[in-house]
Amino acid sequence: MSERVHVGVAWPYANGPLHLGHIAGAYLPADIFARFNRLIGNEVIMVSGSDQHGAPITIRAEREGTTPAAIAQKYHEEFVRCWAGLGISWDLYTTTGTANHAEVTQDIFLTLLNKGYLYRDTVLQAYCPACKRFLPDRFVLGVCPRCASPNARGDECEACGRPLDPSELSQPRCAVCGGTPRFEGSEHFFLKLSAFQEQLASWIGGMSHWRPNVVGATRRFLDEGLRDRAITRDIEWGIPVPVPGFEHKRIYVWFEACIGYLSATKEWARLQGEPTLWERFWKQDARIYNFIGKDNIFFHTLSWPATLMGYGGLNLPYDVPANEFLNIQGQKLSTSRNWAVWVSDYLERYDPDPLRYFLAAAMPETQDSDFSWDKFVRRNNDELVATYGNLAQRVLTFTHKHFAGTVPDPGELDDQSQALITAAAETLRNVRDALEKCSFKEGIRSAMELAQLANRYLDYKAPWKSVKQSPSDAAHAVYTVLCVLSALSTMLSPYLPFSSDVLHRSLGFTNTLQEQGWQFVPPQVGQKLGPAEHLFKKLDEAVIEQETARLGT
Ligand code: MF3
Ligand code: ZN
Repeated sequence: MSERVHVGVAWPYANGPLHLGHIAGAYLPADIFARFNRLIGNEVIMVSGSDQHGAPITIRAEREGTTPAAIAQKYHEEFVRCWAGLGISWDLYTTTGTANHAEVTQDIFLTLLNKGYLYRDTVLQAYCPACKRFLPDRFVLGVCPRCASPNARGDECEACGRPLDPSELSQPRCAVCGGTPRFEGSEHFFLKLSAFQEQLASWIGGMSHWRPNVVGATRRFLDEGLRDRAITRDIEWGIPVPVPGFEHKRIYVWFEACIGYLSATKEWARLQGEPTLWERFWKQDARIYNFIGKDNIFFHTLSWPATLMGYGGLNLPYDVPANEFLNIQGQKLSTSRNWAVWVSDYLERYDPDPLRYFLAAAMPETQDSDFSWDKFVRRNNDELVATYGNLAQRVLTFTHKHFAGTVPDPGELDDQSQALITAAAETLRNVRDALEKCSFKEGIRSAMELAQLANRYLDYKAPWKSVKQSPSDAAHAVYTVLCVLSALSTMLSPYLPFSSDVLHRSLGFTNTLQEQGWQFVPPQVGQKLGPAEHLFKKLDEAVIEQETARLGT
């Protein structure tokens, strides 16, 4: 039975280029999941957009002497190119700068206000006399009230993960000049998070399918007790506060960005020409997944669900599969030190599937993981090329050469061949089970084990030896491996969409994998194969040194 699945992915700040940490953290798992759900016949929508508000963008604009809008536009365009290059299959990728998003945000704001979930209070806002300006939250540094880290940021302590207000820091200092800010009173709207404490706790209690790290982090916030939080700021860039007297204030980026999951669905519905279609995902039976990095957990498991509870009548997230971090060659990824691999650089030089493969196989699902060029080249050459690509290449070219490029009649399958075909069908089921529970590493591992099994089978059967004396034995082996290849192209297509499409055509199927769906379809005897195209390219070992040299410079 077809189910509805909403895949919302963290909205990336449009203040700098995308790197592998973004992809491994959220975009790749989301895309694999969305593609898989489409293949099994679910009704899927995958949305996100560029987060164009917030301090990261205004700061960058100031530094470059341009406007936040220009920065946001520039990176938004770059993101869109990266998505296409990587095969991230959005149903809609928009931005937080649309009139629609502002309208949906203001509606939620006013509804919460009317229902009594927002109230006004005066906050102390950090003002730096030396810099002559109000400081964005993250530009106030100081000692964390929870863990006493000396370098906590005013929005969050990176050491312990606690969300903060700048006024909670002791010994506050300005991140720009190191001077001591003074705190001035300013009136803001607060979200009554504390009112949702119990409701959230019991909701999370039912989420036994969440990853333990996500439940754990969420519980820690709950155990501390939720505090009400200001959701407006003294800034000019952002969504206006729809209340008189607040003309020079804006809605806080974190309150507003998560609303994007809903506003983007509405935008998508309008673009489909059916403006009420969004309700299928938000008001009817549907599962909402939010793919994010672990630094965004608080906003997705607590403050956004509280917003939805307060608003009423809309679905809450079903799962928030947050990933841990991707390190680069043993060190924490750092954009300022250029200790990062940039997606646009990667795409200029290499194909998307090898990266998707690496990041899926080494996905930081339950703990931080590591990318290195050495491991990347090895996995490409030893696993993609030597195991999977070579299996396909050997059998397809052999079939072209000895069986006129048509699927040969296997005769009756011997036990060994039957066992391999059974293993293929079983693996297809296992990968499905893994993907249904967002265990991406596990799924790709099973698929590659099947490819290995098929390689061993092929080496053992050695049809290139038997073809002269006993063409029927050769036909038997070739047929069996062609069946396995069909299963592999299907189960790997969420992970490796480009090469899977190529293989599917090479096997002589005339429909698309999407049309075929998630099923084991052995090629028909007599089916005419397409040309045997190479699925992957072997990478020169020199790549390791060249690419490593670019890091940190
Ligand atoms: N822009 C934020 C970041 O890059 C993520 C926002 S996720 C959202 O960390 F759901 F709130 F949009
Ligand atoms: Zn200062």
